Amino acid sequence: MEIKTVGVAGCGLMGSGIAQACAEAGYSVIVREVNEDLLGKGLAKIESFLAKGVEKGKVTPEHMREVLSRLKGTTSLDAMPVCDLVIEAVVENLAAKHELFRALDGICPERTIFASNTSSLSITEMAVVTRRPERFVGLHFFNPVPLMKLVEVVRSPLTSPEVYEVAAAFAASLGKTPVRAADKSGFVVNRLLVPYLLDAIRALEEGVGSVVDIDEGMRLGCGHPMGPLTLLDFVGLDTTFAIAEIMFGEFREKRFAPPPLLKRMVQAGFYGRKSGKGFYDYSQQPPKPVPGLV
Ligand code: 3HC
Repeated sequence: MEIKTVGVAGCGLMGSGIAQACAEAGYSVIVREVNEDLLGKGLAKIESFLAKGVEKGKVTPEHMREVLSRLKGTTSLDAMPVCDLVIEAVVENLAAKHELFRALDGICPERTIFASNTSSLSITEMAVVTRRPERFVGLHFFNPVPLMKLVEVVRSPLTSPEVYEVAAAFAASLGKTPVRAADKSGFVVNRLLVPYLLDAIRALEEGVGSVVDIDEGMRLGCGHPMGPLTLLDFVGLDTTFAIAEIMFGEFREKRFAPPPLLKRMVQAGFYGRKSGKGFYDYSQQPPKPVPGLV
């Protein structure tokens, strides 16, 4: 079960980072987006990340060229059958993931391992739409993928122990630390992180502090690299909303329920950094808190 070629389905915030991390580790990578526009944007993200690395002296121009030469972008799934492992990083929506895995299952050989980067959906529920549930795992990466050192490796009750070990070894081969987790919505990190992020929004709604007070409180008081509202903008408010809805649906516990302010912001198109506005306005340098949110 040697992994040489990795397929990545989705070249958004997570997919582009996963594709880059795999190419940096020496794998041949085929990354697929649904259209040329999204593919171009995703590949440009990788290029600009590497270019910043060169500027900072962390990446050599030669390494950058090598990494880019190992990456192939495509808008079709036709090339996926050559992959030993396909990692899905599309939108956090079960129907979309089912559709993708059914299509991949129809064209990939039996040996191909499937992985989902889902942060909250059930690995088991995805695995059972394929004819290879024993070759199906979760590989949950963290944003920004090229820098964050963790991958949660998730097994379903159907995952074969051998495939699970291959997946954990693959995560380690990317220079990441694999943490093993059972197939319970949110796994380890989001189970703890999501209620914390939602509570930060509730604190803002309830007037406990301003956007800056809440962020600076956690950054300086607890030594976090970013405050929770900055982190929400970074992860994406639409993504966090989708994760919270899924976790609330699974556990029916208030701590996972998305607060009304989060819903309103998503409805207004305030997705965070990626849309230019969330709790902060990124058209300004440095970004300023958006007035009138509560
Ligand atoms: N290429 C190579 N190296 C780079 C780089 C690049 N383009 N950009 C930065 N780096 C290096 C820097 O040189 C630095 O290295 P050093 O520690 O050896 O000096 C290191 O990466 C940190 O970079 P910076 O100093 O520029 O930036 P910060 O110190 O501000 O760190 C951050 C940036 C890593 C994003 C930090 O703010 C952080 O850890 N934030 C929290 C992120 C987080 O919590 N992510 C998880 C989100 S949850 C998630 O993803 C799960 C999902 O399911 C919701």
